[in-house]
Amino acid sequence: MHITQPFVVILLMGLKLSEVAGNCFFNNSQSHCTCSLLHLQNIESLISCLPASVFELQGGNLERFAGFASIRVEESAVDKLQILQVTKIVFRDLLMPEVLLAAAMKFIPYMRVTELDFESCTFLGNASWFHMNRVILPVSSLRFHNVTAISLADRDKDFSSLSDWLENLQNLTVTRSQVTYIPCSIGKVFRTLRYLDVSENCLQDQSMRPSFCQGAFPQLQVLNLHHNNLSSFYTVCEMLHPLKKLIHLDLSQNYLTTLPSLCEWQPSLRIFNLSTTGLNHITMSLPPRVEVLDLSSNNLHSLDLALPFLKKLHLSNNRLHAVPAAKNYPALEVLSLDGNLIWHLPRAELQSLRHLQSLQAGRNLYNCSCVAANEIQALASIESLMPDWPQDYMCESPSSYQGTLVKDVPASVLQCNKVIVIIPVSVLLVLSCLTGIICFARHRAWSG
Ligand SMILES: *[C@@H]1O[C@H](CO)[C@@H](O)[C@H](O)[C@H]1NC(C)=O
Ligand SMILES: *[C@@H]1O[C@H](CO)[C@@H](O)[C@H](O)[C@H]1NC(C)=O
Ligand SMILES: *[C@@H]1O[C@H](CO)[C@@H](O)[C@H](O)[C@H]1NC(C)=O
Ligand SMILES: *[C@@H]1O[C@H](CO)[C@@H](O)[C@H](O)[C@H]1NC(C)=O
Ligand SMILES: *[C@@H]1O[C@H](CO)[C@@H](O)[C@H](O)[C@H]1NC(C)=O
Repeated sequence: MHITQPFVVILLMGLKLSEVAGNCFFNNSQSHCTCSLLHLQNIESLISCLPASVFELQGGNLERFAGFASIRVEESAVDKLQILQVTKIVFRDLLMPEVLLAAAMKFIPYMRVTELDFESCTFLGNASWFHMNRVILPVSSLRFHNVTAISLADRDKDFSSLSDWLENLQNLTVTRSQVTYIPCSIGKVFRTLRYLDVSENCLQDQSMRPSFCQGAFPQLQVLNLHHNNLSSFYTVCEMLHPLKKLIHLDLSQNYLTTLPSLCEWQPSLRIFNLSTTGLNHITMSLPPRVEVLDLSSNNLHSLDLALPFLKKLHLSNNRLHAVPAAKNYPALEVLSLDGNLIWHLPRAELQSLRHLQSLQAGRNLYNCSCVAANEIQALASIESLMPDWPQDYMCESPSSYQGTLVKDVPASVLQCNKVIVIIPVSVLLVLSCLTGIICFARHRAWSG
């Protein structure tokens, strides 16, 4: 069989269909086409993929096609490319010479592809990207996950050839790919990038300075540094200072020490994730206008910070003994306190939070004394306030109620306030006795 341009042709579908064979599966409801490159057989299956908006190429060693690197986009192909619906191309489990990738990119400007996704791919060697000079691709999101490629160091030339495109990129994800740092000159190319996810890599405190140097990622709004090897809260704070537009920062799953320092976070920050960072106490400064703060899965014993703009506070899985003072968080809408050591929910205080819509407070050590259980039950009776009620609310004390659901503790107002019940009853008794005595006495007086 005459296999001209097989990889590129399958990638682009519209080219020389009659000369290609592929084994593709089209999921109509998802408008998703998956082509396996390991078994190239069935041509009809490829045609069925023409309406797909997501096109996935998976499983294959493309080294033998490296010779197609010099391919040109033929005039006749351009029309076909322009009618294709595909907006996203996913490359999965591929071994791919970088020259082939560079060649495939020549076709993208004629398509409507806005997303390119590389998952579990290994790029071999490096290519010249000179032909991409001044080419602007329609792609605005680029994602690499679990990929292996040669280091980013000393690749300034490649990135400068790609800079007309990369300058316009909005979203970049490079996760689980052993990234140790981003050279300063490369960060500066991404002039309009809004979203950068570099989670699950090997960034350390020292790599923060070149990666976020002055002028790198000047428009960045979302930065995900989840699960790297960062260790100092303040080094991170200082190194991120050039990012003046940062709104959302995720530092979760880095073990951070918080030695006192004067670094202030940029006032633009609204969403801050410090989940699973080994924090024992919060003595450091937090972004003053933060609206969403995730402190879950740490070792916090208490929290005493005033954050007047805070709307969502996540404190699940800590060691808190009491609910943090409501006066510190007047704007709070969502509060999660599940998995702590809290024994009491102060009803009046929680109800003073006028915007509170969700309170998740199960898996704590509740004291089910009559009054305390009554307070929790009264809170839970507020429509849809407590999403984990009743199944996660268990009594820890007194011993007679240990293991009982808080919902099942008899704790109506009458049952709790025996005094209130007893006084009126005894007053009634006394009154009726008195009445009886008086009547009896009168009766005696009249008849006597
Ligand atoms: C298509 O994708 C949907 C959503 O993931 C899935 O439920 C369905 O089973 C798929 N169809 C086929 C035929 O595999
Ligand atoms: C990551 O990619 C490699 C190939 O480069 C693959 O063997 C491995 O299974 C992938 N790991 C995961 C978790 O997908
Ligand atoms: C994390 O950083 C420490 C030094 O700060 C180093 O010893 C360790 O090997 C690093 N771990 C990883 C997984 O990179
Ligand atoms: C914070 O990060 C963790 C992952 O470590 C994630 O599960 C959680 O949803 C994030 N919190 C917020 C508020 O986005
Ligand atoms: C539970 O609450 C009652 C009434 O407030 C109190 O007397 C008792 O000491 C508390 N028990 C524990 C274990 O805190």
